[in-house]
Amino acid sequence: MNQLICKECKATYSLNAPRWKCDCGSILDIEFESVFDLEKIKKRKPTMWRYREAIPIQDDANIVSFDEGFTPLTEVNFDGKPILIKQDHLFPTGSFKDRGASVLISKVKELETKEVVEDSSGNAGSAISAYCAKAGIDCSIFVPEKVAAGKVAQIQLYGAKLNEVPGTREDTAEAVLEAVGKVYYASHSWNPFFLQGTKTFAFEICEQLDWKAPDTIILPVGGGSLLLGAYIGFNELLNAEIIDKIPKIIAVQSENCAPLYKAFKENLKEIPTINNKETLAEGIAIAKPIRGKQIVEAVKKSDGNFIIVNDNEIKKSLKEMCKKGYYIEPTSASTIAGIRKYLQKSNFDEVTVSVFTGHGLKTTEKMLKILNEDGVPKLVEK
Ligand SMILES: Cc1ncc(COP(=O)(O)O)c(C=O)c1O
Ligand SMILES: [Zn+2]
Repeated sequence: MNQLICKECKATYSLNAPRWKCDCGSILDIEFESVFDLEKIKKRKPTMWRYREAIPIQDDANIVSFDEGFTPLTEVNFDGKPILIKQDHLFPTGSFKDRGASVLISKVKELETKEVVEDSSGNAGSAISAYCAKAGIDCSIFVPEKVAAGKVAQIQLYGAKLNEVPGTREDTAEAVLEAVGKVYYASHSWNPFFLQGTKTFAFEICEQLDWKAPDTIILPVGGGSLLLGAYIGFNELLNAEIIDKIPKIIAVQSENCAPLYKAFKENLKEIPTINNKETLAEGIAIAKPIRGKQIVEAVKKSDGNFIIVNDNEIKKSLKEMCKKGYYIEPTSASTIAGIRKYLQKSNFDEVTVSVFTGHGLKTTEKMLKILNEDGVPKLVEK
């Protein structure tokens, strides 16, 4: 049965209902009978839309796409141990969020909705803005005041209305809920259509591995839009008997904002309130993740684990990757710091996949600050 479903109160709604949450106030999920015809898929363009029959958009005419996806899965060597890294920083707007935005904004077009709002630490807001620009949909993005200049520039140049909210990321999340009213909330946290896009991350990895699942996957996690999408994707391939296992999920959080790590390690039933501090990894600094319980459950079910990393480790990993020629943003480097920690204890025969989630060009101020700390002369504005 194809439908929106609330796992709290068991209510169901049509996939064409213009709603982003249940009447009971809880998050919604999507039940969808995905179909995979491997012969057909193989012959299609190398984009995330090659899995067309697994994406719940009815009419091809509503697809909003820049031919994104099918990003390279590239081997990067960590002291003799090869890790396969999905280069999702190479998406049109510079982050993996384009996966979710492409499907979500296609759904918005299908619903004939003319206006959306979204809140973000920057990358999801940039992605939603770009796809709304392509679709001719009005878009208003709420971001915390301190968001990276590159992301703020992108959002505005794509033509979205920018609302900067003083205070924390949580203050921004509250401000947008007040603004939602009758406007459709194109949220990467609440809206389950976003996860129908990020699930293609799992499809691509398995196809790039000759339709096999990796043993382990190491992912950054804040609100879980990548981790939960990947988990849905692997499960759909398992149900279709295309792969024979779900990879173990290793989730990486920043030590300065790690509510999910704490919930997992202390086996808590609820996501705890934490005293979060600023971190270089702005994209995963989510103190109150809406889908927190789902994330912890997915990691547990995959027989996985959580790892925390501190800002020094993130900085070190960022420099290490740049020296290898990969220019990624600090949030993305937190994953690399997680890989380093994981490798200290891992079985070296595992096929391990990870990801570059965001491009370094988005966070030039932070990159310059890191350079300045090393005594490299400050670049003068021309
Ligand atoms: C660069 C980058 N990496 C990772 C994430 C993690 O996001 P999530 O847990 O929502 O998938 C984000 C979110 O904004 C991000 O911008
Ligand atoms: Zn409900």
